[in-house]
Amino acid sequence: MSQPIPRKTDSYDFMVKVLILGDSAVGKTCILNRFCDDSFGPSAGLSTVGVDLKYKTLECQGKRVKLQIWDTAGQEKFRSIVNTYYKGALGIVLVYSINDKKSFINVESWLKQIANNAPTAAVVILVANKTDLTEQERIVKASDGEKLAELHNIQFIEVSAKTGDHIEETFFDLAKDIKDRILEDPKLLNMNQSTNTNQGPRVMKLDPHLKSQQRKSVSGPGTEKVDEKCKC
Ligand code: GTP
Repeated sequence: MSQPIPRKTDSYDFMVKVLILGDSAVGKTCILNRFCDDSFGPSAGLSTVGVDLKYKTLECQGKRVKLQIWDTAGQEKFRSIVNTYYKGALGIVLVYSINDKKSFINVESWLKQIANNAPTAAVVILVANKTDLTEQERIVKASDGEKLAELHNIQFIEVSAKTGDHIEETFFDLAKDIKDRILEDPKLLNMNQSTNTNQGPRVMKLDPHLKSQQRKSVSGPGTEKVDEKCKC
């Protein structure tokens, strides 16, 4: 579906802010790492503290869409930090895990927070992660995810950050919908450009087994990935 093309220029038609939200341990960081670096694993066992940021540019029906993707902390105690990042977000990847019923139940509460904090034009995609798990390990049926997404009139997709299954499609679908909204209403771009990327991303992962003073930084402040361009 996607063809990597050489990373040469940094040109793009739109830069859009995307947030990855959802409960702790549903796999938000792994989804971002799979999408941006095609990797899985190094963050296992560590929880995001605050937010992390990476970029990736997709070519969508003739438009180059640069995604500025913020990986947020799922833990409740970071909610007030995360709430400050909704401003200007035109895309939201809302994740739950298919083996974690609570993360699915909490989708409703995340949707309320999105409604309260995100721009009304934001495109939301509901993502069920960890489809590599066995049917015995699955607790949330695909049909339940589909129904919930239908109820809220948002897209739904099942993915695995571990295998990479449907990860690219998630971001391509989102980028296409955002691009369409921007083409319908170009003023959205102004709102997006007012996004402050100097909020000082905190790019740490917290080992739940460590005390707070032992938090470990994994990628240093302000991590930015150089664009990789893909076609959709
Ligand atoms: P917070 O930073 O606490 O908000 O968590 P997170 O949502 O970023 O979760 P993270 O990406 O750190 O992953 C949590 C755990 O789930 C780790 O042990 C991952 O290895 C595991 N995990 C993530 N994605 C998958 C997946 O697709 N399949 C499987 N089997 N495990 C996964």
